[in-house]
Amino acid sequence: MTNDEGRMTNRRITFHVLRFTFDSGRTTVDLSLFSLAGKTALVTGGNSGIGLGIATGLVKAGARVAISGRSETKCADALAALRTVGGADAALAITADLADTDAIPALFDRAAAALGRVEILVNSAGITTRSRADLTPLDQYERVLRVNLTAPYALSQCFARARIAAGLGGSIIMIASLMSEASRPTTSAYTASKGGIRQLVRALAVDWAPFGIRVNGIGPGFIRTPMNQPLVDNPEFDAWVKKRAPLGRWGEPEDFQGPAVFLASDASRFMTGQIVYVDGGWLATF
Ligand SMILES: NC(=O)c1ccc[n+]([C@@H]2O[C@H](COP(=O)([O-])OP(=O)(O)OC[C@H]3O[C@@H](n4cnc5c(N)ncnc54)[C@H](OP(=O)(O)O)[C@@H]3O)[C@@H](O)[C@H]2O)c1
Repeated sequence: MTNDEGRMTNRRITFHVLRFTFDSGRTTVDLSLFSLAGKTALVTGGNSGIGLGIATGLVKAGARVAISGRSETKCADALAALRTVGGADAALAITADLADTDAIPALFDRAAAALGRVEILVNSAGITTRSRADLTPLDQYERVLRVNLTAPYALSQCFARARIAAGLGGSIIMIASLMSEASRPTTSAYTASKGGIRQLVRALAVDWAPFGIRVNGIGPGFIRTPMNQPLVDNPEFDAWVKKRAPLGRWGEPEDFQGPAVFLASDASRFMTGQIVYVDGGWLATF
């Protein structure tokens, strides 16, 4: 397979000129389907970890991206990194606390005003707690549910209302988890939230398919991000992850660029209601 026409502009890949030709010389795959040139996206949690990996992928594919998070410092650092990849116009940052669900419409409106419109929504912001279920205070449980499940719902509502009013479709990407499928000790709140995300993807996909709004999810395995730093730093856990994952390593935020571009773009135009697991094969074995 050769890349005969690919070129880099301002370090952003111009997919419309990419064409892969297979060795037989008879089959070509036009990668313009993956282009996000001219598209706009809001990525919550885009200042860190998986969200930043996804935002980077979307920028490389040509999108203008608004990232959000609570920390101004993390937003500034992430913004600098995204602008290095895509140029000064490629990204902007909005600080907002998703635990304040009443403030979510204002976050969406700020992103829409800054970008002109939001055509892709990635709900990556999330939190976890680690405590046995009988020892977990209810307010801690409710906070995890609010940030991980209610906020993506509320933001997706804002997105869908705007797209339906404009008579245009769009793509929503939720971030699920291995905990959407199974659980581990001390993860009751997180498992409940991610199990909810799995079903929310299906419910929203069904409600909004008539309007051309696709809703899919990405289910990460164990990924090396700040959220997992205590686990990465635990030698036993680290060894277990590397042994347990068929591909033999932790995932990295960069591993999410391709799947996110695929789900955001026309390359996945007949897909909705699906969770794509990016887990190094974790769920394929036991
Ligand atoms: N890492 C993994 O192995 C793994 C596996 C499965 C699923 N996931 C999911 O992947 C997503 C991203 O996690 P990550 O691993 O990339 O963790 P991370 O690096 O800790 O990122 C979490 C992001 O969420 C934002 N956030 C947290 N609370 C928020 C709040 N109240 N309001 C607004 N933003 C908030 C953080 O920004 P601020 O701190 O600035 O608010 C940060 O950008 C989460 O949904 C997580 O559940 C991760």
